[in-house]
Amino acid sequence: MEQKTVVLGISGGIAAYKAAEVASSLAKSGYEVRVVMTQGATKFIAPLTFQTLTGHPVVVDMFAVPPIWNVGHVAYAEAADLVLIAPATANVIAKMAHGLADDMLTATVLATKAPVLVAPAMNCNMYLNPAVQHNLSLLQQRGFHIMPPEEGRLACGTTGPGRLASPEKIVAAAKRLLHPRTDLAGFRVLVTAGPTREPIDPVRYLSNRSTGKMGYALAKVAAELGAEVTLVSGPTALVPPAGVRLIEVTTAQEMLTAVLAHLNTADALVMAAAVADFRPRSYSSEKIKKKGESLSLELERTEDILEQVARRKKTGQVVVGFAAESSNLIVNAEHKLRRKRLDFIVANDITRTDTGFASDNNEVKILWPDGRVEELPLALKDEIAVAIWERVLLRREEIQAASAK
Ligand SMILES: Cc1cc2nc3c(=O)[nH]c(=O)nc-3n(C[C@H](O)[C@H](O)[C@H](O)COP(=O)(O)O)c2cc1C
Repeated sequence: MEQKTVVLGISGGIAAYKAAEVASSLAKSGYEVRVVMTQGATKFIAPLTFQTLTGHPVVVDMFAVPPIWNVGHVAYAEAADLVLIAPATANVIAKMAHGLADDMLTATVLATKAPVLVAPAMNCNMYLNPAVQHNLSLLQQRGFHIMPPEEGRLACGTTGPGRLASPEKIVAAAKRLLHPRTDLAGFRVLVTAGPTREPIDPVRYLSNRSTGKMGYALAKVAAELGAEVTLVSGPTALVPPAGVRLIEVTTAQEMLTAVLAHLNTADALVMAAAVADFRPRSYSSEKIKKKGESLSLELERTEDILEQVARRKKTGQVVVGFAAESSNLIVNAEHKLRRKRLDFIVANDITRTDTGFASDNNEVKILWPDGRVEELPLALKDEIAVAIWERVLLRREEIQAASAK
């Protein structure tokens, strides 16, 4: 196998020492690892550590080109099969988002055509600061891959999101980008995501706490695996994944119409949206006034999208549903699996605060019509998405094998 080159960029945060494990693990896996450090990073860990781990000199000063592997400031950018920034400081994230190139690390990022994986690490208030969040979403819109930080006790003593993702997770994500799989090439998939909004009057609506993260992860991963992806999404604050056709809807009815319009051409449907079960029976075109002590809203059932899909499902199509439950998870999910004639259902317990809505993680169970229940360990939603698509493929192969008999 041709040896691939990872350019590992290290910036000046307390987590810089963890980059040693990343460098060591990548080098042991047989990658050529070239390290670029910011001046700040060298205050936390010595370049000699990386020179020893990778067997190559470390570049810090853009103007002092290394004597062995020279050519100039874009050499690493051109040689890279992947640029990995771990840890990425708030400062380096801002510089990358705005196209600055005043050191070797940011110049490399600007000049490379390779995929860039960014693993932020910082104090949680810094991480949650709108400036940092905006910069990260700018990078994401441009196709950068972000490895979200973990929650926990940070070096500064506070608790919250900002701790560098574990070196194992960073290396696993790097390997996925270095060896893109094409398992879903030629596959057309339809994914639903996010909540729906059911209007009450011009200013109010009924909705739910879904953020769309699981559905967007499913769409992103499917596109990375080579599928042609249509994402039907309710209102979310998320950046649409690159290479995905996005259809934005608001109400359950609009979502149903969009799904049915694309049903026939899909090989697989994964319905991760949290669709409203009820909507106000009537819509008030005037804002409802504050009168009296109470107000009753009459609700009516919305049309069940999965039921409609089950009715129209073609042979060979794989249909996957989600069950978000707060009690009797398995019983309720199994009931939904059978009633909607799904190929399998992904069940998650929404009472947990470390998974489910708004979290980057999820811990799900997969229920099959033959009664099998698979428990997937707590993982990033991207990793859960990979596991779901692997099972979609498996199911598709089963269906094809059965029809060939
Ligand atoms: C002890 C210490 C720890 C720091 N840890 C972080 C950190 O974890 N994340 C971060 O974004 N900045 C951190 N900073 C601030 C950065 O070092 C500072 O913004 C610097 O300008 C970053 O430069 P660079 O991005 O070029 O490496 C820390 C600073 C100090 C003094």
